[in-house]
Amino acid sequence: MAITKVKSLKGEISVPGDKSISHRGVMFGAISKGTTELTGFLDGADCRSTISCFKAMGIDINQDGDHVVIHGKGLHGLKAPSSMLDVGNSGTTTRLISGILAGQPFISSLNGDESIQRRPMGRIITPLSEMGAYIKSLKDNGCAPLEIGGQPLHSIHYNSPVASAQVKSCVLLAGLYADGITSVTEPVISRNHTELMLSGFGANIKSEGLTATIVGNPTLNGQKIAVPGDISSAAYFIVAGLICENADLLIKNVNTNPTRAGIIKAAQAMGGNIELLNERIVSGEPVADIHVSTSNLHGCEVKGDIIPALIDEIPVIAVMAACAEGQTIIKDAAELKVKESNRIATVTENLANMGCDITPTDDGMIINGGKPLHGTNIKTYLDHRIAMSFAIAGLVADGETTFDNEACCQISYPDFFETIKKLYK
Ligand code: S3P
Repeated sequence: MAITKVKSLKGEISVPGDKSISHRGVMFGAISKGTTELTGFLDGADCRSTISCFKAMGIDINQDGDHVVIHGKGLHGLKAPSSMLDVGNSGTTTRLISGILAGQPFISSLNGDESIQRRPMGRIITPLSEMGAYIKSLKDNGCAPLEIGGQPLHSIHYNSPVASAQVKSCVLLAGLYADGITSVTEPVISRNHTELMLSGFGANIKSEGLTATIVGNPTLNGQKIAVPGDISSAAYFIVAGLICENADLLIKNVNTNPTRAGIIKAAQAMGGNIELLNERIVSGEPVADIHVSTSNLHGCEVKGDIIPALIDEIPVIAVMAACAEGQTIIKDAAELKVKESNRIATVTENLANMGCDITPTDDGMIINGGKPLHGTNIKTYLDHRIAMSFAIAGLVADGETTFDNEACCQISYPDFFETIKKLYK
């Protein structure tokens, strides 16, 4: 698909279900007793990987689009898979399932695509090994393929060197299988969906400041969960509504959990017209409709404690900064280098190719915004968030913006390009 400049962008949209919450709903349902029902599930490739891993361990899961029913078998009901688990492109599947696999009486192995095989797993190997788990990087390079399980676990207190919900959740899930109390302290608070959702399933789990604590061996019971729209998917349309001319968009039913919603604060700091309407709590998570309209944006600093709350949105925040007058400095975001692609490099390359003045730094980027963007062929590096962020840049660029790969959007937002098409006036 070729994206060209829009003259107007108006309407009301919904975005697909939250990816983090969808993964967790399947995983926690599988290790609970009874039935878990998810509505609004993200029917994207990453969450399908999670479903297929649990099916391979004997869990009955019926999926009909965004409606998923999981027939859980309790904490000790998984059976050994007959072959290597395939986590596809999904870092969340890999790191969270490893916590569960570490507590199983059997040894299993997992692997994923080329991107997964480059992503750091030392960050989960270290705490799981401390808990007594057997976990091995089969190529001895700190990455997948991994072999895990077959050893009893003991509880630990883990001081995580990174603010990562995947690491925190991995340790907490292993903590379900350990005697006693397991806790994790992070340097900055990361998304807390595991804590909120596991508590709903009946786990004794608490958060105090930067520390989350879980008691081992609970009985978990199946739940009904309405998965809200994903703010990481809404982010593309938030930015589109702010940077396009004659824009007025209402994005309905979006998860606005403060540990995720940093993009709202960043947009406000840049002078964006953005408001939350109809704020409510659904299945334990804050949800709102988000209204955005054309704005005169100016640069700002994005750094410090807010970074984990907008880490996946930085590619599209960089696009917003390119359209804002003045300088935007993004720092404290070295984690960008270990996402689906090295997003400091892939954002810089593509924005520079579109005519933006951007300099990469070791932990972020410096963008001097306000120069007109021009269309180009986007190098996605098969990273879904790069493809979608630059489709949004294409809406304000002269000429045509095309992509070396569009299918990568299937990871988190299968209808992304259809939604864009519908909004064209
Ligand atoms: C996720 C946590 C984040 C995020 C990822 C989803 C999760 O990763 O980037 O897309 O669902 O827990 P890290 O925990 O590695 O920062």
